[in-house]
Amino acid sequence: PSSVQLAVIAGDGIGPEVVAEGLKVLRAAVEPTGTTVDTTEYDLGAKRWHATGETLPDSVLEEVRGADAILLGAVGDPGVPSGVLERGLLLKLRFELDHYVNLRPGKLFPGVRGPLAEPGDVDFVVVREGTEGPYTGNGGALRVGTPAEIATEVSVNTAFGVERVVRDAFARAQARPRKKLTLLHKHNVLTFAGHLWRRTVERVNADFPDVTADYAHVDAAMIYLVQDPSRFDVIVTDNLFGDIVTDLAAAVCGGIGLAASGNINPDRTAPSMFEPVHGSAPDIAGQGIADPTATALSVGMLLAHLGHADAAARVEAAVAADLLERGTAKRSTSQVGDALVARLG
Ligand code: NAD
Ligand code: IPM
Ligand code: MN
Repeated sequence: PSSVQLAVIAGDGIGPEVVAEGLKVLRAAVEPTGTTVDTTEYDLGAKRWHATGETLPDSVLEEVRGADAILLGAVGDPGVPSGVLERGLLLKLRFELDHYVNLRPGKLFPGVRGPLAEPGDVDFVVVREGTEGPYTGNGGALRVGTPAEIATEVSVNTAFGVERVVRDAFARAQARPRKKLTLLHKHNVLTFAGHLWRRTVERVNADFPDVTADYAHVDAAMIYLVQDPSRFDVIVTDNLFGDIVTDLAAAVCGGIGLAASGNINPDRTAPSMFEPVHGSAPDIAGQGIADPTATALSVGMLLAHLGHADAAARVEAAVAADLLERGTAKRSTSQVGDALVARLG
C-alpha cells in the first residue's frame, strides 16, 4: 500500500471549481489500487494577498517542497494588480522548484470537434522551457509614465538551461513512434538566443541519432499549426513562445478547457506541479460551468509522473470516452467530474 502526499493550490477564479473535480477523479482513479491520497490544501491566491499581502510565504514553499506532487488550479484576479500573483505565486513555484520542462500535450481526441475542417491525426507535445526566457524578471523601466519611458524585458537563455530542456525533448521524441523533434524559435531576428538554441539542438541530436530534428520560425509555425497540425510530434521552444504556441494548440485541439500541463522537474529534486493550461477565467468564475477536463487530464499526467501508469491510463481512457460521447450538451463543472468518476468506478 502506497500513498501520495499531494499539495493542492486551488487558487483563484475557476481554479477551486476545476480542482474539486480533479481531486474526485484522482481519488477514483488511484484509491481502488490501494494507494491513498493525502491532500494538504494551501489558501494561496487573491484572498490571501488581500488579507495578508502574501503571495507565497517561504514557510509554505518549504512545506510544499516535501510533497510528492502539486495540483494547481489557476491564479490571477482582476482585483489584484496584474503580475503580482502570476509572478509571486505561479512563476515563483515554477522557478523555485526548477520546473524546467513545461510539458503541454496537443492531442485532438476522437469525437472532439475543433475549429479545423480536416485536422488529420493531431497528437503532439510541446516541451516548453519553464525557468528562463523573458520570464526571469530581468528587466526594468526608466522614466515611467513619461514620454521618454523605456522598458526592457530581457530574455535569459543559458547554455545549461537550453541544453537540459532540449535533451529532455529529444528523449521524449525518441520514445514516441514518429521520433521527430521540431525547434520553434526565431533565429532570423533573435540571433543570440536563436543560435544558441539551434546549435544546442544540432549538438544534442548526435546523442539521439534516431530522432529527426527540424526547425521552423515560430511565426510560420503558427500557419502550420492551423493548416497542418499533424506534422508536429515533439515541439521544443522557449518559455514565452511556448506559452503562446500552447494556447493556439489548445484551440486547435478542441479548446482551452481540454488542455493539460505538467511543470516537470525531471531530476526530481523537488515536486512537479500539474495544472490546466488555462487561467482563472474571471468571465465565467462562480457559475459552475468551467470545463474540468483539462484538470482531469493534468491529474492523469500527475499519476504517470508518480509511477501510477495504470491509473494514469484509466484517467485518459475515461476522458477519451467522455469526449467521444460528449456531443454539444451543456453540462456543469461537477456533472463532467461526476461523469468521469462514474467511468472510473
Ligand atoms: P483564461 O485562460 O483564464 O481565459 C481565457 C478564455 O478561456 C476565457 O474566455 C475563459 O472563460 C475561457 N476558459 C478558460 N478556462 C476554461 C475552462 N476550464 N472551461 C471553459 N472556458 C474556459 O485566460 P485570461 O482571461 O487571459 O486570464 C485570466 C487570468 O488568469 C489572468 O489573471 C491571468 O494572468 C491568469 N492566468 C493564469 C494561468 C495559470 O494559473 N496557469 C494561466 C493563464 C492565465
Ligand atoms: C500559463 C500562464 C502563465 C504563463 C502566466 C499566468 C504566468 O499563461 O501557464 O500558460 O505565462 O506561463
Ligand atoms: Mn499561458
